[in-house]
Amino acid sequence: MGQLVFHQGILKDHVAFVTGGGTGITGGVAHALAEAGANVALVSRSIEHLETAAKAINEARVREGSDPESTSIGEAFAVAADVRKPEEVEKAIAATIERFGKIDIVVNGAAGNFLCTAEELSPNGFGTVVDIDLKGTFNICRAAFAELKKNRGQILNISATLHYLGTPMQLHVSAAKAGVDALTKNLAVEWGHYGIRVNAIAPGPIEDTEGIKRLVPEPIKEKIRQRVPLGRFGLIKDIENAAVFLCSDAASYINGAIIVVDGGHWLASNSLR
Ligand code: NAP
Ligand code: COA
Repeated sequence: MGQLVFHQGILKDHVAFVTGGGTGITGGVAHALAEAGANVALVSRSIEHLETAAKAINEARVREGSDPESTSIGEAFAVAADVRKPEEVEKAIAATIERFGKIDIVVNGAAGNFLCTAEELSPNGFGTVVDIDLKGTFNICRAAFAELKKNRGQILNISATLHYLGTPMQLHVSAAKAGVDALTKNLAVEWGHYGIRVNAIAPGPIEDTEGIKRLVPEPIKEKIRQRVPLGRFGLIKDIENAAVFLCSDAASYINGAIIVVDGGHWLASNSLR
């Protein structure tokens, strides 16, 4: 548990459903939402990832206070589902409502990526990433809609900046995340009428993540770091803080926004340095 930068318990009485919540960036986001007081359902394919992450949150909760009624840290619950399978998604939503009574925050972080040139990419390679990142996000939003409408809840999608320019070997993910951005804006307009806010975070390169391991070969890491105007890779904590802010009442008039959290990295893509 890091040092709190928000008022303690600002998400108390909220329930978050977080896909990709067992690892990496969205694992951090789930942890931070729980730290801010929300109960969290961690959702992905691997129950091992999820149970480890849920245990870490629940142990922190126990450490914080022996009386579960007075602790400000939320409770975590692991539920396996593949976001590509609408029936598994619906079961996970139902299991979360049964466990915590409601859902009013949905975070879509489940994603897949690998480096591959466009000419080498197979139809199934392209389709798999679009199925997870874009169609998976749609499947979750669609299945959670009734619950979010009832609770005037919100959706936070985890996007990227890859598609703002042309990023070599990232055709599949660029197409999928461009779709996630379109979905974010469209749902913000359609579902805003029900009081549902829909926003996204576009992280830049974030240190100590699977994404960076897969996409940034060690020899060019330093070159990329130098390109970031703030002079460093992002930390998972940077995305956690943006997520807690967007999920809190401090952001209650923010709808349809895609917040770039990248230290200025993509804006500097033309830099000669
Ligand atoms: P990560 O730890 O590998 O996160 C991806 C998560 O998605 C995993 O927890 C994985 O869990 C889950 N997942 C994959 N396929 C799934 C499926 N079919 N159904 C359900 N869950 C599935 O990678 P990360 O780097 O932290 O990335 C997290 C998010 O940030 C992604 O949306 C990514 O696009 C975005 N992002 C990352 C960076 C970066 O620098 N790392 C930059 C920009 C954007 P299971 O294996 O258990 O299913
Ligand atoms: N290069 C080219 N194509 C690749 C590839 C690579 N490195 N990795 C997978 N593919 C292709 C496969 O060849 C297959 O296509 P084919 O049937 O034409 O051969 C297709 O993608 C699906 O692969 P498969 O391994 O069956 O998919 P999966 O559903 O088991 O796993 C992945 C999905 C491929 C995205 C996998 O990497 C994954 O689970 N990723 C989650 C973690 C992650 O990517 N984190 C980073 C997030 S930024």
